[in-house]
Amino acid sequence: MPGFRRWGKSKLGRNPESSFKLLAAIIVITLYLLFKEFQNPTIRDRGTSRPGVQIQHAQWNGTGKAHESRAESVRDAMRHTFWRYRENAWGCDDILPVSGGNSTSRNGWGAFIVDSASTLVLMGLWDELALSLDHILAIDFTQAKDLVDPFETTIRYLGGLLSIVELYDVGLVPEHILQREARHVILGHAVTLAEKLAPAYDTPKGMPWPRLDFDTGQGESTPAFRSRNDGEQNHPAIGPARTGSSILEHRVLTRLTGDATYTQKSTSAWAPLVWSKWKTPWAGMVDAPIDIMTGEPVGRQRHWDGGHDSYYEYLLKMTLLAPPSDPHIDLYKKRFTDAAFSLRSHLSSRSAPAAEHYMQHLFIGRQNDRRYENHQGHLACFAPGTILLASKYYHQPYLRTFALALLEGCRHTYTSTPTKIGPETWSWVPKFSYDDPLFVPETARQKTEARASGIWAREPAYKGRPEYVESLFYAWRITGEPRYRDWAWEAFSAMEKHCKAPFGYAQLADVYDVQSEGGEKWVDVQESFWAAETLKYLWLTFADVEVASLDSWVFTTEGHPFRMIR
Ligand SMILES: *[C@@H]1O[C@H](CO)[C@@H](O)[C@H](O)[C@H]1NC(C)=O
Repeated sequence: MPGFRRWGKSKLGRNPESSFKLLAAIIVITLYLLFKEFQNPTIRDRGTSRPGVQIQHAQWNGTGKAHESRAESVRDAMRHTFWRYRENAWGCDDILPVSGGNSTSRNGWGAFIVDSASTLVLMGLWDELALSLDHILAIDFTQAKDLVDPFETTIRYLGGLLSIVELYDVGLVPEHILQREARHVILGHAVTLAEKLAPAYDTPKGMPWPRLDFDTGQGESTPAFRSRNDGEQNHPAIGPARTGSSILEHRVLTRLTGDATYTQKSTSAWAPLVWSKWKTPWAGMVDAPIDIMTGEPVGRQRHWDGGHDSYYEYLLKMTLLAPPSDPHIDLYKKRFTDAAFSLRSHLSSRSAPAAEHYMQHLFIGRQNDRRYENHQGHLACFAPGTILLASKYYHQPYLRTFALALLEGCRHTYTSTPTKIGPETWSWVPKFSYDDPLFVPETARQKTEARASGIWAREPAYKGRPEYVESLFYAWRITGEPRYRDWAWEAFSAMEKHCKAPFGYAQLADVYDVQSEGGEKWVDVQESFWAAETLKYLWLTFADVEVASLDSWVFTTEGHPFRMIR
């Protein structure tokens, strides 16, 4: 054969000595690479990235390697979180980190275990993962304690299950920890759960009920969702996040099962937002709350903060997850970009210099009917990371500048408190007056804080939330600037110092309080997102930049990685 002959006549073939050396070198290099691979099985992406997608910073020149000691400290925090739960509350939804008690507020399936599993995979905590998988395989999702919240159940449980399958499918879970048959059982659980949740969407517009009874399949409302139109049970009104944060999970479920109905359900659920008949004066942004029966806004709240946030997040992430051939992708991109520019023009606000603090910071407020509210929540600190992600993917330099300025604002809320952790909500004096800013410092304490830092806490708690460190993770991976890693370390060190409790990591009652001892300063609650998101994003920030690369993975609003679909 000509091909064979050509090979035989090659330079290699003519000089047996040099070809032997080359062969030896190849064997040595291969053994070394195999060794590296087994040493750290999490460091690979298995070529899942979509051609042409370059989100992460490209020229690392060696600076993208793991910061081993910091990564290990975060991993230790995960071990503490896991083992105290394992010893004291195994199988319950969450542990109470101060008392060692437990809570069953997420229907009793073991929310912590399902929500934290993808963090265990990425960190390579295999003993812990093996225990978690044993529990997960035995869950019965057809029975629920109490009414089910379709939104929370989708992002924590359904997203958590699907992420395990995704990570397994690219080879990131060792076969001796999870076998193929068990992987099928987990996907089966996801299908069961999605089918049990399906009746929540049986409304005229396909928007979900805020609660669902698993025994009867009946949608339910609660007093918190009574619409203003009609104080009755049968017209609940919800924020855009509740109807606009299931499409990533359902799109992945469609890919894994081949069943298109999941994606169709989620497309209908957010259609009243994406294809809204009720135009707002601000492109891309929707008014809320929204009546689930008519799709009509019954209030005039417009913002990117809690309750609205992940609708905007999923517009962008759907364009990253799904291939460009998917219908509607261009429209989702337009909606996201419009909404981000509307946020910039209408809701972002620079703080005025304060008596003892001359710096100005950029924050994002909220619109409530005709009033501008100079008020931001920690939840809205997801926006810098998400907008930065969009700026890279959509080639929008203005959004990059905007996102990084917002991130600096979020950091300021952390660095200006004595604990070095930011409050749940805060206000500022706007530099450019909205005629009559809604919030002004009133109490002596608020005045002191405002004088010292230009902001004052409205709700001074820290609830273990991830949004600030989540945005730092995006900033580090996308810009490659080491200061974002340092900021993440400052935040983690503060959490380690102030939140670490006997049975996990507690919430803080007041981030300005460094006087109270132990139990006094703590709130005895640890939400599953502490392990699913806060610790995951912190660890990923110190891990090698190739681990769970943004060129291959899309993180859900609960921090669960999904593969980009080619
Ligand atoms: C959860 O707390 C209850 C008391 O509130 C206790 O009886 C139960 O044993 C605890 N569960 C676990 C798994 O420790």
